Amino acid sequence: MSHALDDLRDAAIDACMADVRDLLARHGVTDESLGAIGARLHQLAQTPGLIPDDELTTMHGTDSTAMVLRSEGMDAPTLVLAKFSPLSETPVHDHNTWAAACVVSGRDRYRHWERRDDGADDAHADVRPLYEKELGPGEIVTWLDPPHDIHSQQGIGGPVWELILFGRNAMALPRHYFDPATGAVRVAMPQ
Ligand SMILES: [Fe+2]
Repeated sequence: MSHALDDLRDAAIDACMADVRDLLARHGVTDESLGAIGARLHQLAQTPGLIPDDELTTMHGTDSTAMVLRSEGMDAPTLVLAKFSPLSETPVHDHNTWAAACVVSGRDRYRHWERRDDGADDAHADVRPLYEKELGPGEIVTWLDPPHDIHSQQGIGGPVWELILFGRNAMALPRHYFDPATGAVRVAMPQ
């Protein structure tokens, strides 16, 4: 990527993060403010050269990948570019934080899950699908803080690229991986 494109991309990310800080300062974390953040991610997605050809690290133990574009701290807004494979669905997992996600290219089968038990058992959980939706370019999905942050994703017909704005640095935090069939729960860093 040329330096000019790098500069354009950095400036676009700077402007997006400033708008996110402003939205959060004025409205806090609500369905409405997260929707506005998702719309702002759609605007950012128009930036030339936003999706790099390489430098991606493996995520979720599949050929899905993700990279942090900007983090303002462990417990502060963090922008991630993620790619979800069409070959297999990600494990059902959480992020210990709210987020807004916007599809940049491709199509996503997003499934949101609900934990039905009281959350007292670290090793076992009753998780069930709450809703499912298909997302195309420019479409967004949001989730609130735990326990409302459990989901799984899979590209449809090819990889899906997404911008995800997390409330914390979810890529540096352990997360729960849930097996809906057995109820098993394990805690691990993003894979
Ligand atoms: Fe996720």
